[in-house]
Amino acid sequence: MQILSRISHKEFKSIMKTDPQKIIKKIKESGLTGRGGAEFPTGLKWEFTRKSRGERVLICNADEGEPGTFKDKFIIENNLSTLLQGIAIGGHVLNAECFIYLRGEYSYLRGKIERMIKKLGFNIKIVTGAGAYICGEETSLLESVEGKRGAPRQKPPYPTMEGLWKRPTCINNVETLANIPLLLTKKDWDEKKRLFSLSGNVKKPGVYELPLGMKLKDILSLAEPKKIKAVCLGYSGGIIPFDKFKNLVVSPKSFSDKSFMLGSCAMIVMGNRSVVNVLKNIAEFFVHESCGKCIPCREGGFKIMELLKKVDSGKGRKKDIKELKDLAEYLDVSFCALGKGYGFTISSALKHFKKEFDGKCR
Ligand SMILES: Cc1cc2nc3c(=O)[nH]c(=O)nc-3n(C[C@H](O)[C@H](O)[C@H](O)COP(=O)(O)O)c2cc1C
Ligand code: SF4
Repeated sequence: MQILSRISHKEFKSIMKTDPQKIIKKIKESGLTGRGGAEFPTGLKWEFTRKSRGERVLICNADEGEPGTFKDKFIIENNLSTLLQGIAIGGHVLNAECFIYLRGEYSYLRGKIERMIKKLGFNIKIVTGAGAYICGEETSLLESVEGKRGAPRQKPPYPTMEGLWKRPTCINNVETLANIPLLLTKKDWDEKKRLFSLSGNVKKPGVYELPLGMKLKDILSLAEPKKIKAVCLGYSGGIIPFDKFKNLVVSPKSFSDKSFMLGSCAMIVMGNRSVVNVLKNIAEFFVHESCGKCIPCREGGFKIMELLKKVDSGKGRKKDIKELKDLAEYLDVSFCALGKGYGFTISSALKHFKKEFDGKCR
């Protein structure tokens, strides 16, 4: 696996002596995009941060809260030194103070990370979250590190201009940062390679490194699925009806063209379960994780959950489907991407599994 390769001490020392502008240029040329789900060009983000005046900060986002995603944990467990080198290189390029924001549920990895930081002689601080999905969203993460309740901030100003304690802040995902030392040293480094977290109704769940551009069925076959009715793209990327889209090419663009979101490359295989029942669980998750700051997500999101419970229990009416559709669209004006992602998944499922909803309602 590309993500498990290492660089030599000599190569690392040489990067740390290289002019920061040259490193940014190389990252931009490599085409590396953020692996936290939004695919923002990493070189550009580093450039924006470097152009901002003030005492800069780099934060490695190790919150990994998207259901079905476990690739960042895989990197921390299997190639921690390369990840830490990526953070140290970011610290050098941005002249920044470095942090890792570690998912609360990964606290058991804290000691291992601390020991490796000490061994490598780096200055990286660790902040542990308290188990809130919203704290993976970059501005809520900043609030959390500042010791406040996790809720998103208004953007702009973007973190690269005004982030942690109003200092210019670059926030990058674990997989993004682990790729930095590799793309700077390995000639055959391939931007198209992604870590897929495959789970659900499969015999071999796990992290698979695969190039974008493969067919959906070929990716899933590696995990030896038992029966595939549908595929959940985490909880925010929609649910794919497998028979209709088994030949769909897997890439952010081809997915968004069909109203799905590849996001952090999590695929949860659904066997024979009812989509309405799965959506009800997804809605319960979002209602639990909503920070409550804005009305569409707090109120609309709750109402969607109640309607899904009604439909799932067989007491739904045809008008409930219309209301679900309207409410899901209303979520698109939510304050942050948590509410938008929730609405997106509901709208996408209503579109692709309409028959199943109709069949459950009188
Ligand atoms: C609700 C929500 C949860 C998120 N959770 C994570 C997360 O756990 N890890 C992550 O890297 N990005 C997460 N993101 C995306 C971050 O806001 C941000 O885009 C990312 O950390 C930037 O890093 P990248 O450019 O390297 O992808 C989340 C976004 C939202 C809206
Ligand atoms: S959409 Fe609104 S209520 Fe939901 S998490 Fe974001 S800010 Fe909070």
